[in-house]
Amino acid sequence: MKRTTVLDLRKKKADNDKIVMITAYDATMARLVDMAGADMVLVGDSLGMVVQGRDDTLGVTLDHMVYHCACVARGSERAHLVGDMPFMSFQVSAEDALRAAGRLVQEGHVQSVKLEGGSTVVPAVERIVGAGIPVVGHIGLTPQSVHAMGGFKVQGRSEDDGERLIQDALAVQEAGAFCLVLEGIPRELAAEITHRLDIPTVGIGAGPDCDGQVLVCNDVLGMDLRFSPKFVKRYASVEQVAVEAFEQYASEVRSGEFPSTDHSFHRKRPAKLARLY
Ligand code: KIV
Repeated sequence: MKRTTVLDLRKKKADNDKIVMITAYDATMARLVDMAGADMVLVGDSLGMVVQGRDDTLGVTLDHMVYHCACVARGSERAHLVGDMPFMSFQVSAEDALRAAGRLVQEGHVQSVKLEGGSTVVPAVERIVGAGIPVVGHIGLTPQSVHAMGGFKVQGRSEDDGERLIQDALAVQEAGAFCLVLEGIPRELAAEITHRLDIPTVGIGAGPDCDGQVLVCNDVLGMDLRFSPKFVKRYASVEQVAVEAFEQYASEVRSGEFPSTDHSFHRKRPAKLARLY
């Protein structure tokens, strides 16, 4: 089966055809997301929070990302795979950035990489793109800058901030990115950036006017019902289904109902005895 390419994704913007991106962190989820027909699967560093249980994404390492990218690549066949560049894998130098991106492609088997930031990451984007690795940019609420932002806060609400983000978007496109994630910005600003760029935008908490949307798989599935930010729409309540299933299992183990004879293996009966039954 052919994987979705950067050309397919560019054509989607030209055809006004929305791009669907969902995160996945392991082979099982990647298979489900692929079966559902997502165009892009993002192995996001959000795994630091939803898989590793951290408060932010800053502790995620390149080795973690390579490991999860490879798991996702084994579980999916069709979607375009994007591997997230973790904190400190691209900020120090463009050479570091290229080496890190190379590992995500060579060992993690993704087709492109994503990195957070605007004008400041232009040299890194240029270096990676120059080596033939497609890049997805990411501006707005960039979780790796959580401390600089003073928390996970919507960005670009003021005129000046909005203008800065427009310039960042143009700079990242000019540097060669083929797609741009817009996170946590006002709908009107996302619409303007989407209109001004030739490359597709994929929004999360950025309103409906982007060229596509991305959500974290755990949020789509409702795997943690304590977490319900404004920008998430939950399409299932897997937390409830899963807890009920585990409770049922626990109760049947305790009562002896499971495993039944149907779930048990049996010794072969000697031929003579078998006839007697
Ligand atoms: O890490 C991630 O999952 C992301 C998306 C939320 C865009 O960056």
